[in-house]
Amino acid sequence: MTPFIIEKTETPTDPVKRTELLANPSFGRVFTDHMAIIRYSADKGWHDAKITPRRPLSIDPASTVLHYGQEIFEGMKAYREKDGHVATFRPEANAARFAESARRMGMAELPEDLFVQAVDELVRVDQDWVPSGEGQSLYLRPFMISNEVFLGVKPANEYLFIVIACPVGAYFGSGCVSVWVSENYTRAAIGGTGEAKCGGNYAGSLIAQAEAKEKGCDQVLFLDARERRFVEEMGGMNVMFVRKDGKIVTPPLGGTILRGITRNSLIQLAADQGIEVIEEPVEIDELFEGAASGKYTEAFACGTAAVLSPIGRFVRPSGEAVFGDGTTPGPISQKLKKTLTDVQGGRTNDVHGWIHRI
Ligand code: COI
Repeated sequence: MTPFIIEKTETPTDPVKRTELLANPSFGRVFTDHMAIIRYSADKGWHDAKITPRRPLSIDPASTVLHYGQEIFEGMKAYREKDGHVATFRPEANAARFAESARRMGMAELPEDLFVQAVDELVRVDQDWVPSGEGQSLYLRPFMISNEVFLGVKPANEYLFIVIACPVGAYFGSGCVSVWVSENYTRAAIGGTGEAKCGGNYAGSLIAQAEAKEKGCDQVLFLDARERRFVEEMGGMNVMFVRKDGKIVTPPLGGTILRGITRNSLIQLAADQGIEVIEEPVEIDELFEGAASGKYTEAFACGTAAVLSPIGRFVRPSGEAVFGDGTTPGPISQKLKKTLTDVQGGRTNDVHGWIHRI
C-alpha cells in the first residue's frame, strides 16, 4: 500500500447543507469536500499521493494538456449498500481500462492497485457524501492530465492523476430516452482512439450531441466511420437491443467502441438468467425496419452514468424507429436494470465478486 497524506479541509460542508444537497443531486454539479491527487514525473515515478481539500489546480499556460489534449478519465460509482456500508463496483475493471487508455494515449501508466487505493482513500474521507436514495450514488471521476511545461509534440514526462466525486441521481429523467442518429459526424475510426476513455472522444461528440438536442433528442448515436451503416455507440454510453426471440444484440468491441464495464456486467447478468447476448454488427437500416416489423422490441443505453436507460425512439432525417409505445420501458430492460442495481446496492448475492467494500 502506498502511504497517502490525508489533509482534511478546515471548512467542511455543513451537515445540514450536505443533507439538502444529497436530497436531489443532479449529475455533475455538486462536489464533495476532498480530492485524491498523485503526481508523476519521469525521474521520480508516481509520488506525493495525497487526499486534499478539493480546490482549483494551478497550471502553467504552456502545460501540454492545454495544447495537445493528453487526458484520460474513468467513470465509476460508490453505493450505499442495503446494510449501510459503502462499496464501489468493479473498481479493478476501471483501473485496468484506465491503464489501457493511458497506453493508447502515450501517457504514464498508473499501477492498478494505486488507482483502486486512491479511489478508496477518497471515498473513505468523503463517505458521508454517499447518498442512500433510490437510484442515487456517489459518482467518482478519476482522471489524468499531462502537465509538462513544453510546446513540443511528444508524450509528456509529467502527469497529474486526480479523483473527484459528486453525489448523483439519474443521468436521464424517468421514462425513455430519445436518440438522434448522427449521419453527419462519426466518433471513431479503426486504429484511432475510440476504445480509449479520453476527453478528445467526448469533445468530438459534442457537435453531434448539440444536433441531437436541436432535433429534440436526449442523446446521439454514432455509426461506423467507414460506411455509416452499422451502429457503434452513443455519445457517452454503449447500446443494446432486444429481439422478439428474447435475445439481446449489441455491437461487438473492435477498437472503435468503449469497453463498457456496465456493458460487460449486463452481458454476464443476462447470461446468468439464460438470456443470450449476441455481439454482432447491427445495421441501422435493419434496426429501423426491425422496430417497425416487431423484430426488435426494446433498446437501451448502458454505462456507469446512464446505468441502464431504456430508449423509446431513434430519430433520423428519413424517419423514426419506435420501441413499444415509445415511452414505457420494456420488460427485459426493466428486469436487467433491477438485477444490476440490486447487485450494486447490495440487495442481492454478489456471486461474481464485483462489490468492493470500502
Ligand atoms: C460514464 O458513464 O461514467 C461516462 O463517463 C459517460 C459520461 C456521459 C458521463
